[in-house]
Amino acid sequence: MSLFVTFEGTEGSGKSTQITMLAERLLALGYHVVQTREPGGTALGEAVRGIVLDSELHIGAAAEAYLMTAARAEHVERVIRPALAAGAIVLSDRYVDSTIAYQGAGRGLPVDELRAMQELAIDGLWPDLTLLLDLPVEVGLARRASAGDANRIDRERRDFHERVGAWFRAEAVRDTQRWRIVDAQPTASIVHTEVFGLVMARLSLGQAAGV
Ligand code: TYD
Repeated sequence: MSLFVTFEGTEGSGKSTQITMLAERLLALGYHVVQTREPGGTALGEAVRGIVLDSELHIGAAAEAYLMTAARAEHVERVIRPALAAGAIVLSDRYVDSTIAYQGAGRGLPVDELRAMQELAIDGLWPDLTLLLDLPVEVGLARRASAGDANRIDRERRDFHERVGAWFRAEAVRDTQRWRIVDAQPTASIVHTEVFGLVMARLSLGQAAGV
C-alpha cells in the first residue's frame, strides 16, 4: 500500500536525520520507500533550491512563494504521484505547509491565497500524515549556527522563525487527522522511535481500511 508522509518544522529540527533513519528502517522491513525533499526532488526543484537558498540573492516574498510552489508542482507530477501509484511510502522533507508557514506566517503573504496556489500545484494530493518535529526556535537556530551552514532563509530574524513555528503548531492542533507533533528535543534515536511508531500506526490504519 502507498502512504504519503511529510515532515515539517523550523530550522535545525532534525528532519533530514529522522527521514533517513526512518527510510532505512522501512527499507529493511521490505517496504518500497521514496525519500525526497522540497524545494528539490527534480532537476527543476534542485535548480530552484539553488536560487532560493542563495544568500547573495534578494528575492521578494511573492517571487519566493511562486518559486517554491512551481518546484512543488513538478515534484508532485514527476516524483510523488508516480511513486504513490507504484505503491511506495513517500517521505518528503517539507511540502505545502512550509509555503504557508514561511511565505504566509513568516513573510506575511495572505494565507488563503497561498492555499489556493497550493491547490493548483498539488491537485488534491494532500499528505496522509504530516509530522511536526517540534523544537524551540532558539535551539534549532543554535544547532544550525554551530553546524556553520545557515542559508538565506535560516538567516532571517528570530521573530520570523517564531511566527513560522507558531503557525506549524497551530495547524497541527487544528487538524489532528493529518498532523502529529513529535518532540524533537530528545536524542535522535528516541525521536526515531516515536516517528517510526506513528508511521507504522498510520500504515496499519490504511491496511485496516483496505487502502
Ligand atoms: P533546508 O536547508 O532544506 O532547511 P531545513 O533543513 O530547515 O528544511 O532549506 C529549505 C529552506 O526553505 C527552509 O528554510 C525552509 C524554506 N522553505 C520555504 O520557505 N518555503 C517552502 O515552501 C519550502 C518547501 C521551504
